[in-house]
Amino acid sequence: MKKRIAKVLGIAGSPRKGGNSDILLDNFLKGAGDAGCETEKIYASHLNIAPCDENNTCHKTGECRIKDEMQAVYKRLIEADCIVVSSPTFFMGVPAQLKCLIDRCQALWARRFVLKRPLREDDKERDGYLLATSGLNKKEAFLGTKATVKAFFYVLGFRYKDEVLAGGIDKMGDINRQKGALDKAYKIGRSIL
Ligand SMILES: Cc1cc2nc3c(=O)[nH]c(=O)nc-3n(C[C@H](O)[C@H](O)[C@H](O)COP(=O)(O)O)c2cc1C
Repeated sequence: MKKRIAKVLGIAGSPRKGGNSDILLDNFLKGAGDAGCETEKIYASHLNIAPCDENNTCHKTGECRIKDEMQAVYKRLIEADCIVVSSPTFFMGVPAQLKCLIDRCQALWARRFVLKRPLREDDKERDGYLLATSGLNKKEAFLGTKATVKAFFYVLGFRYKDEVLAGGIDKMGDINRQKGALDKAYKIGRSIL
């Protein structure tokens, strides 16, 4: 029987394409690709998605009534075997563009926890990873981002498996001075199968 290829979905949370967290994500996805996974990257800031309007129709339907590019993202989130989120720290949390995507997952929360409908046919818990950067070189800089991403993974049925947190990183490309973080992102990606 042909082995199914694992689908790894990378969500780039920074509005700065090619920025520090994006470079970490590329390393992770390169590792996953080298391991034989199918990889895809989406940029939260490139999506034309409205913020959640808390209309709460989703509590009755399990669907978001806002028909924009988030509809295609739901499909990808449900089909992914592994999700890796990359994010800079913005005011102790994730950038607005990424938060917008995450908040729109309230419809999936409603499907699972209000309507008690599974998101997928199997109930296998999947693995999620966080790659985050911050200007501040203190672990406290990541507390907000970690809490948000953990909640995001929980709602989608993913466990928070591992993380790469790189502090003291500010200017574009600063991450290239942290070889340990780049190597760790690659290694985790390489090991996920
Ligand atoms: C709007 C904004 C808010 C920021 N807020 C924080 C912060 O609260 N704490 C921090 O340590 N760094 C903060 N930073 C710095 C970024 O987290 C840091 O430069 C990061 O490495 C950028 O990653 P990127 O290149 O992937 O966007 C902020 C940067 C911006 C532009």
